[in-house]
Amino acid sequence: MDFDISTYLLNRKAWVDEALEGLFDPPGRPKPLFDAMSYSLMAGGKRIRPILMMAAYELFRNEGKDILTFACAMEMVHTYSLIHDDLPAMDDDDLRRGKPTCHKVFGDAMAILAGDGLLTEAFNLISSDSHTKNWPADTRLSTIRELALAAGPQGMVGGQAMDILSEHKKVDINTVRFIHTHKTGAIIRASVRIGALLAEADPVSLNALTRYGESIGMAFQIVDDILDVEGKTALLGKKVGADNALEKATYPHVAGLVKSKEQARELIDSAHQSLEPFGDRAAPLRGIADLILKRNT
Ligand code: IPE
Ligand code: IPE
Ligand code: MG
Ligand code: MG
Ligand code: MG
Repeated sequence: MDFDISTYLLNRKAWVDEALEGLFDPPGRPKPLFDAMSYSLMAGGKRIRPILMMAAYELFRNEGKDILTFACAMEMVHTYSLIHDDLPAMDDDDLRRGKPTCHKVFGDAMAILAGDGLLTEAFNLISSDSHTKNWPADTRLSTIRELALAAGPQGMVGGQAMDILSEHKKVDINTVRFIHTHKTGAIIRASVRIGALLAEADPVSLNALTRYGESIGMAFQIVDDILDVEGKTALLGKKVGADNALEKATYPHVAGLVKSKEQARELIDSAHQSLEPFGDRAAPLRGIADLILKRNT
């Protein structure tokens, strides 16, 4: 039977959108803070991280829906990272997910706080009895730790810091790899791992999935860099050419477009190799890997 990745992605994106929609409705107080959080969260977005988490879980268990709270928490952390990434003090972008950026609509202070709010609320969600009490305490704890490590200074925040420190500088490929594995790879890797941890995957499978996550995570950011050069603002929902303007340490900047495309393809090949032990059940994870290479949004 042919597996249809488009339908798979559409279904799961709808689950995530619906679950997120309910989170701050009705909004809390102060309303502008909650409005800013919802605005960015609901502005669109591919939801690739929550979908990856559910796809990893579904390798071992039937219902990806069971882990929607964890999946939404990951999307909240990701959205926070985008709000802060767009701030004038960082990439200074005006367009995100096809809409004016959070700070353009709500001001810098409220955008900073909306990011802080999404980050902390994500941890509140996954540790609160009302949402995740059916999971064993040690499993919950390991997902909290996984998310904290991936989001924090050893992960995304560390990568973002290195990205900013490398602007307008001559950097080598190892620095670019550090930036990419940390600012983007860590959250993608953790999305896959949390899905596997919640399914109580055996250590060998967890290892294979970790390698899959690392490969697609790196590929995702290389492709993001390529799209900043060759993509279309209308499709991406963010302004292209932004990296060049800031002399960012991107893969194409350091290795060239041809090598960057080659590298992305090789990483997706390795991702497929990591999935070999899982057979047909890994069709969604295979489809996501291919999509990361081919995407234009
Ligand atoms: C954008 O991530 C930021 C990067 C890590 C490159 P996505 O391309 O997943 O953005 P959304 O969530 O779909 O808007
Ligand atoms: C950002 O990388 C990664 C994050 C942690 C948000 P980019 O700065 O390249 O992401 P875009 O291109 O603005 O989405
Ligand atoms: Mg950035
Ligand atoms: Mg940016
Ligand atoms: Mg980018």
